[in-house]
Amino acid sequence: MQIITVKNVEKVIGQEKILKNINLIINKGEFVSIVGPSGSGKSTLLYILGLLDIPTSGEVVVEESPVVFKDKDRLANLRNKKFGFVFQFHYLINELTLEENVMVPMLKANVDKKTAKERALTLLEKLGLKGKENRKPYQISGGEQQRVSIARALSNNPDILIADEPTGNLDSKNTEKVMEIFTQINHEGKTIIMVTHEMDLAEKTDRIVKMKDGEIVEEIKVNYPHL
Ligand SMILES: Nc1ncnc2c1ncn2[C@@H]1O[C@H](COP(=O)(O)OP(=O)(O)OP(=O)(O)O)[C@@H](O)[C@H]1O
Ligand SMILES: [Mg+2]
Repeated sequence: MQIITVKNVEKVIGQEKILKNINLIINKGEFVSIVGPSGSGKSTLLYILGLLDIPTSGEVVVEESPVVFKDKDRLANLRNKKFGFVFQFHYLINELTLEENVMVPMLKANVDKKTAKERALTLLEKLGLKGKENRKPYQISGGEQQRVSIARALSNNPDILIADEPTGNLDSKNTEKVMEIFTQINHEGKTIIMVTHEMDLAEKTDRIVKMKDGEIVEEIKVNYPHL
């Protein structure tokens, strides 16, 4: 079953066509990686898939409903409900504890404070951060910071996790940990779309989407239980 469908999407910035005639189907429960040279349009496509960026033309369909990019409130609503985001830089708030950082998206979504706190603790525990919930982001390691940002991305229980080079700043041990977490949450039913520079990580996903010069040039099915 398709969860996101991209039809003839193009993105033009200034004179430059950054995405050209993109057609892509993401199936529910799939773990898809997007690879390609720097500047090939990976992040731009990922942000369109995550409804963070608007295509110049073409269509994005999320669970059978065409996305209306002009309707900002509905767009933000859909994005907050369906998607979680992890970036190369964690963007945690240094003034807040780890627990409070994970609570932020839940409080924004009007989850009551007690429930948000309980869920934040459960997620931090799941990500191996039990006992550290009252620390500030600068009091933990880079690998731990990235795991807190994953906990935050999962806080509103999104169906789809969007990750732009989530291991870009991590050493091999922490990279492996993040991949284990992603694989686990994928097995729990979440759809994951991850941009990466590392081919050995892409090979652990279900499907590799290769980009070059703003186009999808190849799709490789690695492990395909979804059809
Ligand atoms: N806001 C912008 N204004 C102008 N050009 C942009 C903008 N955003 C992206 N681009 C250009 O679009 C192209 C694709 O950028 P994008 O960030 O999607 O590449 P990428 O594949 O993610 O690269 P990297 O691996 O370095 O992150 C690049 O040439 C980039 O310079
Ligand atoms: Mg990028």
